Amino acid sequence: MKDSSISKFFEKSRKERLNAVKFFSSLSDEEIKLLENPDGGVPFEKADKMVENAIGTFSLPLGVATNFKINGKDYLIPMVIEEPSVIAAASKGAKIARVLGGFEVESGESYSIGQIQILDVDIPAAILNVKKSSNEILQIANSKSNTLSKMNKGAKEVSCKEIDTPIGKMLIVELLIDVGDAMGANITNTMCEAVSPILEKVTGGKALLRILSNYSTRRITKAKAVFDKVAVGGEEIVDNIILAYQFADNDIFRAVTHNKGIMNGTIAVANATGQDSRAIEAAANAYAARSGKYRSLSNWTKDEDGNLVGTLELPLAVGIVGGIANVHPIAKICNKILGVSSAQELASVMTAAGLAQNYSAIRALSTEGIQKGHMRLHARNLAAAAGAKNDQIDNIVQKMIEENTISLDKAKELVKKI
Ligand code: MEV
Repeated sequence: MKDSSISKFFEKSRKERLNAVKFFSSLSDEEIKLLENPDGGVPFEKADKMVENAIGTFSLPLGVATNFKINGKDYLIPMVIEEPSVIAAASKGAKIARVLGGFEVESGESYSIGQIQILDVDIPAAILNVKKSSNEILQIANSKSNTLSKMNKGAKEVSCKEIDTPIGKMLIVELLIDVGDAMGANITNTMCEAVSPILEKVTGGKALLRILSNYSTRRITKAKAVFDKVAVGGEEIVDNIILAYQFADNDIFRAVTHNKGIMNGTIAVANATGQDSRAIEAAANAYAARSGKYRSLSNWTKDEDGNLVGTLELPLAVGIVGGIANVHPIAKICNKILGVSSAQELASVMTAAGLAQNYSAIRALSTEGIQKGHMRLHARNLAAAAGAKNDQIDNIVQKMIEENTISLDKAKELVKKI
């Protein structure tokens, strides 16, 4: 069985790390070459076809978080992020969660929501007519995707709601579409546009906006992990983490930062696997306010044995087919490193990464603070930049910390002395 708890992964050379990932995920030599390629997988010719007015490409670090066990399966999790400490924090959180079995994650249906705004109608009569024609509406929507229809997926429900605005009432028709393993934005928009003529016909109104909703409340993933109280550092730390959570859950200024920490984990995986991170963040923030008040996305309590229990629930519209995940060679490799076989499995990994990240952030904040860890990492980078060899780095970092001077000049001075 695969084991993602690779000890001292961060101390390995790039070659050693790549070898470990190659072995874990059965990557080919070709895929390793792509990972080593300095263009990050998007040569300019490709970039020029992806966006308008392209003038270059922009790369970010890709790392791998270790120690994750999710629903009994081990994962190495690729993360793309510019911020130091995030990958280390996710790996540390996963290591502690692993003591009592890792993360349990449930990911439900994959329904995308499409919205059509209908104006200038007698709303109650229009709703009745839409209901009467719902089979025909679904048929027209489903004629737009043979692939989904063949898999018995596709548009499943039509519903109506009335909204009240300062300039009058509006009818909003919503299509519920099972998009399977795709993120589904394109097919949802296509279906919305395809059904608007019949909606105009049966309602007698005018269809204005026809667009996917990124508030993907029919794609919820729930992760849970029990963090052993001894591994966490004792009862006092468990209690302090719960106090930190209560602060976030009851104060919007703290909640936004707390949830940003969750996004550090989730979005880094989204970036690596070619997801629409803006959609995920917009939905997560709306979901955090679903009670009418913006709150913590995670929840922290303790069980009867005093162990820390963390849960995280996120709306996640992600895909493993279609979109950039199939075009970007590095995103493709990242999906292979993860070894996920469905969009739900990918969503499960992203939620576990968010929870692990949140654990490490609030543990650090409620104990020594985050700067110490940050500075240690920063010191490592400085030691490497000053030319320290791998086996000298720890020593130089320790000296810089002891002498309370973490700078490139100090690192260079220490390297010279060795
Ligand atoms: C930094 O990117 C994230 C944190 O601020 C999250 C938090 O405060 O919980 C450390």
